[in-house]
Amino acid sequence: MPRERFITLEGGEGAGKSTQARLLAAKLEEKGHRVTITREPGGAPGAELIRKLIVDGDADRWTPRTEALLIFAAREDHLSRTIRPALERGEWVICDRFIDSTRAYQGAAQGLDRQVIEKLSEIVIGEDMPALTLMLDLPVEAGLARAGKRVEDAEAGVTEDRYEKMEIEFHQTLRRAFLDIARAEPGRCAVIDAGKSEVEVAAAIWAEVGTRLAL
Ligand code: TMP
Repeated sequence: MPRERFITLEGGEGAGKSTQARLLAAKLEEKGHRVTITREPGGAPGAELIRKLIVDGDADRWTPRTEALLIFAAREDHLSRTIRPALERGEWVICDRFIDSTRAYQGAAQGLDRQVIEKLSEIVIGEDMPALTLMLDLPVEAGLARAGKRVEDAEAGVTEDRYEKMEIEFHQTLRRAFLDIARAEPGRCAVIDAGKSEVEVAAAIWAEVGTRLAL
C-alpha cells in the first residue's frame, strides 16, 4: 500500500520543484496539517553526507551502478530516519525527488538496467511508495536556462552543477522518461505544466492534491 500522506515532486533541472514543495507545504499547513519537507538525495544527516558524494565532482566520477547504490544507501537512511517517522507522527511528507529520479537519471539516461533499480527499490522502499507524484514538466531549454541562472546567482562555492554540464539530449531523455513513468502509472502520477507562472503551477498542484488525496 502506498503511504497516504506522502507526496513526491519530480522533474528535470529548473522545473521549480523546491519552490512548489514550499508552496504546497504552506497550503497544507493553512489547512491545519503538519508537514515535513525533504529532498533526495539527502533529507537526513547521513543521507546529506552521501548527497555530497553524488552531486559533487566530475560527471563520470561513479559508474551508474555505483551511483545507484549510493542513492539507495542515502534513500535507506532518509526513509528510516526522516520519512517513516514523520508519517508515523501523522505528518504529511513532501519530498523533492524520489525513486522516479533514479529511474530517469540512472535508468533511462545513464543506461542502468531497470531490473537493478527495481530490485533495490523493493528492498529499500518496499510498500512505502508515495500516494501522489507530481511530475513538473517543462521544455528542456527552459529548464536548463532557469537552472543555469540559479547556479550563477549562487556565485562561487557552488559545486552542485555536475549534472547541469551534461548535454541537452541527456535532459531530453530525462523528460521523456518522467513522462513515460507518468503514463505507465496514472494512479500515482500527475503531470503538471511547469512552464506556467509560479502561482498557476501551485494552483494546478493544489487541484491534484485535492482531487486525489483525502485532505
Ligand atoms: P536537485 O538538483 O534536484 O537537488 O537534485 C540533485 C541531482 O541528483 C539532480 O541532478 C538529479 C540527481 N539525482 C539522481 O541522479 N538520481 C536520483 O535518484 C536522485 C534522487 C537525484
